[in-house]
Amino acid sequence: MELGELIGRRRSIRLFRPWRPVEREKVQTVVEAMRLAPRLLGLDLVRIVVVYKERLSPIELGRLKTPTTTAQLDMAPVLIMPFADLSVLARGLDGSGLKALAAAGVLPRSLGWSDDYIEATVVPEVYRALADDEDRVPLYRRTEPGQTVSRRLLVTAVTAVGLAQTYGLLGAFDQGLGAQLSAINFAAAKELLGYPDDWLPSSPIFLGYPAESVGAGGQRPREPFERDFHLGRHGVPFPRDPDVTRQLAEEGMLQPAAPLPWRRAELRGVASILGLPT
Ligand SMILES: Cc1cc2nc3c(=O)[nH]c(=O)nc-3n(C[C@H](O)[C@H](O)[C@H](O)COP(=O)(O)O)c2cc1C
Repeated sequence: MELGELIGRRRSIRLFRPWRPVEREKVQTVVEAMRLAPRLLGLDLVRIVVVYKERLSPIELGRLKTPTTTAQLDMAPVLIMPFADLSVLARGLDGSGLKALAAAGVLPRSLGWSDDYIEATVVPEVYRALADDEDRVPLYRRTEPGQTVSRRLLVTAVTAVGLAQTYGLLGAFDQGLGAQLSAINFAAAKELLGYPDDWLPSSPIFLGYPAESVGAGGQRPREPFERDFHLGRHGVPFPRDPDVTRQLAEEGMLQPAAPLPWRRAELRGVASILGLPT
């Protein structure tokens, strides 16, 4: 699928076919896509736990639910749990990740990259400035006194996880799957999955075959483009060229907005097939 159409087709799928498992190779493809998302400062801090839901008992499943994540947990056959491994932030700020990128020819000498430049300039002025910022938050769940991390560094790390989630979502839709990012009860997940204290969890990707139609009732509402997107400085709307939007509509990136006229009927029909309240 072309990227524009893929972006246009992606939407949060909340109704899955519980009877249809996701092929192992499709799960792996989603995770492979997540691994290729941009990285922060040459650090590999994204961790993944793939959870096949059939291996959880009904009681365990029930404990994972939250007010915003209910029956989709019963329906989606696979959860892909992403984490930021904070221990990487704690020990990876010596520039070795960037040196490896320089050695691999990724960061070219023509742009000034060398081991000396990384050690003498990038580590103190970028890594250390980010890491030593005075605005700090606890590093770990059970933090010893003094174990804090700069809020900026943490936010940047979480951004890297967000990019991995994005790549995973697009990888899912590209393979004809449906997917959604959804909260779970992270305390229950910690007990069930046994991940280390220094892995910061984020919303899992719920993965499965959609029980809804591909369009799932239309592209979901967004605020007006010109209100949220600015040109040059705050308050100057980025002008939206109608020729461009027409072209994007033809390519499938911009699609008719929700709710399509038949959406309520679809939701009732799918609910009755799945045995959910209508
Ligand atoms: C980090 C994150 C967490 C989310 N958690 C939930 C959730 O707990 N329950 C839910 O129904 N949707 C959740 N969503 C999905 C959003 O509600 C959804 O993306 C939004 O309504 C826009 O719709 P779209 O994804 O179909 O474009 C989450 C999205 C993000 C980015």
